[in-house]
Amino acid sequence: MPPRILAFAGSSRRESLNRKLLTEAVDGARAAGAEVTVLRLADLALPVYDGDHEDEHGFPAGALEFKRQITEHDALLIASPEHNGGYTAQLKNALDWASRPTETDRTGLGAFKGKFAAVISASPGLLGGLRSQTALQISLHKIGLTVIPENIALGSAHQAFDDEGRIKDERSRRSTHGVGEALARAAHTSQSKA
Ligand code: FNR
Repeated sequence: MPPRILAFAGSSRRESLNRKLLTEAVDGARAAGAEVTVLRLADLALPVYDGDHEDEHGFPAGALEFKRQITEHDALLIASPEHNGGYTAQLKNALDWASRPTETDRTGLGAFKGKFAAVISASPGLLGGLRSQTALQISLHKIGLTVIPENIALGSAHQAFDDEGRIKDERSRRSTHGVGEALARAAHTSQSKA
């Protein structure tokens, strides 16, 4: 069975630079034989996490759907903007909901356990959102994912894409595809161990 990768961005903005970057990495993963599902976090319509909300209304349908999607894939490919040195509230909120226990997932972390993740970022700034990657890596490690070392932080990203939304610079495009390829390989390895 081909490795299955769930791909999503920490920004759901129509013209999101990170969603464009994600598309390039997805191409790399597909070229390496992975089946990739691309998810738009805003479509999950998640409320901001709050313990009272969970107690009073239970799990939102979008959170169950996100957990189900993670469970059905072997690895996560995540592109997130940097917001004030961290990763976005939208992404944090989705991960927080997915990490909550349910009747069938007592620890809350069952969906993530033993899976690989790749983290990439794009920013109009020179550092390409690199600090968001560090923050995100810490969270992903905490919830049980192994983050692969391959990454890309695309700086000056407001100038990096052509009219079709593809990366103009060949080296950067190849590096981004390379992240997708590396994640497909890692996901394949984890499948054979399972
Ligand atoms: C930003 N941006 C930003 N960029 C950066 O390189 N470092 C940072 O700390 C921040 N902080 C930050 C905070 C907030 C609240 C916003 C709205 C923006 C700029 C950000 O990288 C830029 O808006 C990107 O274009 C956002 O990513 P998408 O939506 O294009 O994927």
